[in-house]
Amino acid sequence: MKINELLLNRESPRSFDSNYIISNEDILTITEAMRLSPSAYGLLSWRTLVIKRSSKFREELLPLFYNQKNVTEASAIVLIIVSEFDKLIEKDIPQYVSLMDDNTSDRVKNYEKRMLSDINYAKVDPYYVNWTSKEAFIAMGASLAVAEELGIDLCPIDGVNKKKIKEYLFENKLIEANEKFGSSVILGKRNIDVPKKKKIRLDKKEFTKIHD
Ligand SMILES: Cc1cc2nc3c(=O)[nH]c(=O)nc-3n(C[C@H](O)[C@H](O)[C@H](O)COP(=O)(O)O)c2cc1C
Repeated sequence: MKINELLLNRESPRSFDSNYIISNEDILTITEAMRLSPSAYGLLSWRTLVIKRSSKFREELLPLFYNQKNVTEASAIVLIIVSEFDKLIEKDIPQYVSLMDDNTSDRVKNYEKRMLSDINYAKVDPYYVNWTSKEAFIAMGASLAVAEELGIDLCPIDGVNKKKIKEYLFENKLIEANEKFGSSVILGKRNIDVPKKKKIRLDKKEFTKIHD
């Protein structure tokens, strides 16, 4: 099926089959789409943490997701963990540079300096608050069609207590101090007893205006 058809067919279920168990293979196919997503400067500024229904962390996380019905029923929650500015500076940039082919060249050294200077600027500019969290949405977007292609239902979940989730993940040693919760998606099979909801979108003509 073409990607636009997959996007047309998919929905964010409000209710999931609470008995369905997603395979790790399917989870990894979906998180691979997130890994391949573009990011500013190509920095490796996010990773994923998957909390399956059987995980010991799930029960304690649910209230931080406001006990949303679909979250409690889904087979897995994929948390997109993003870097704070300090991690970008201290770890992500050096790591990215080390993976470049010509990393001892003046060109790469200058590029590294430019990234550091830009990110140090972004750190203090309110416009860039939550910069890396915004990038998490790119990962989320990339995963939508891949899940649908696999026959897995996915719902983006961002209506959560982000501050408390960050604290919980840190207290439980699931993230570092310089990381935070970016956003999340839940995976599983939709509850077939609940009819699909109507797809509501802006009219195509209103949505895109092309000026030739
Ligand atoms: C950034 C973002 C945050 C969202 N947060 C939630 C959420 O917390 N809970 C939920 O049930 N759905 C959430 N959704 C799903 C939207 O409600 C859903 O995408 C929208 O109603 C359109 O429906 P569709 O995806 O089925 O086409 C979120 C979607 C996005 C993109």
